[in-house]
Amino acid sequence: MCQSTWHDFLRGLPKCEHHVHLEGCLTPELIFSLAAKNQVQLPDAATNPAYESIETLTARYGNFTSLDDFLHFYFIGMSVLNQESDFADLAWAYFQKAHADGVHHAEVFFDPQVHQDRGIPYETIVAGFVAGCKRAEAELGLSTRLILCFVRHLPVASAEKTYQDILDSRHFESDVIHGLGWSSTEVGPPKDMYRDIYASAAQRGVRLTAHAGEEGDPTHISVALELGATRIDHGIRLVEDPVLMQRIVDEGILLTVCPLSNVQLKCVKSVAEVPIRTFLDAGVKFSINSDDPAYFGGYILDNYCAVHEAFALSVDEWRTIAVNSVSESWIGEERKKELFESIDAHVLKFAELV
Ligand code: HPA
Ligand code: ZN
Repeated sequence: MCQSTWHDFLRGLPKCEHHVHLEGCLTPELIFSLAAKNQVQLPDAATNPAYESIETLTARYGNFTSLDDFLHFYFIGMSVLNQESDFADLAWAYFQKAHADGVHHAEVFFDPQVHQDRGIPYETIVAGFVAGCKRAEAELGLSTRLILCFVRHLPVASAEKTYQDILDSRHFESDVIHGLGWSSTEVGPPKDMYRDIYASAAQRGVRLTAHAGEEGDPTHISVALELGATRIDHGIRLVEDPVLMQRIVDEGILLTVCPLSNVQLKCVKSVAEVPIRTFLDAGVKFSINSDDPAYFGGYILDNYCAVHEAFALSVDEWRTIAVNSVSESWIGEERKKELFESIDAHVLKFAELV
């Protein structure tokens, strides 16, 4: 835990979260209780001992060996969501935690293909998550955005079906779906598997992001940019390509960095190895995020604190991170102005830390 005055500063610093998977907020407790409620069969403990109990599952989460090892558990976990209210409650649980951590604006991912694959209608999933977002806006004063993520372990045809569902329900026009992303297995499937979908979405003016440069080399990042992404999720391997890094700086592209996730998935050995200092010094814009808080042992404030412990940033550097998080959020100028003002007011209160 960081020192108490710093902890207060970091907790109250107005935050934007740009990289959190709502399904990644399913805790082992919730997985077991929803499985019982919805009569979903979790893996047999005889073949997968992690599913013996909440405690054994929690312990297993502490030993992920790679992104794909984590994804195995992540996709089993989300199989317990059935009813619209399950999706709404999950989103609401996340927003309450985020609000307590000082999040003012949240852009959240969800993976409909995986639910649709097991027979849950697109409308049920979206209606539930939208209800959670609306509640957070009404009761907590957060602004929210839903980003639909395609998953790279399923065939392109599956993504095309979901894309058609978005078009049929006119969810781009009504701003229900604010942007598209891609996630899941990075190394293996073709880097440009969503070329056609991204081209179509870009033509409609839809915001595009992509998980790239988490486990995969920087060419995953350059292909994502080529396909129209204007934001990169993770992107920590960008440091291996200084020319590409300069392009990211010049184009003002935001990286949504997730330090505790990177450690838990063995992308780095410790938070100190996440290239926070390199990015700050080079002028790369980034935000700090939780990714899958129920799996990686921390919500957004835990990530902020871990970064502070590893890098001892100054108030001014934290202000830069907060300001960049607002300026690269997918919100209007008026909301940005409100958030900039809250950052300035907060920084003023902690002037003695300078
Ligand atoms: N990487 C790729 N896919 C994911 C992740 C991640 O960190 N979290 C949930 N799906
Ligand atoms: Zn992610």
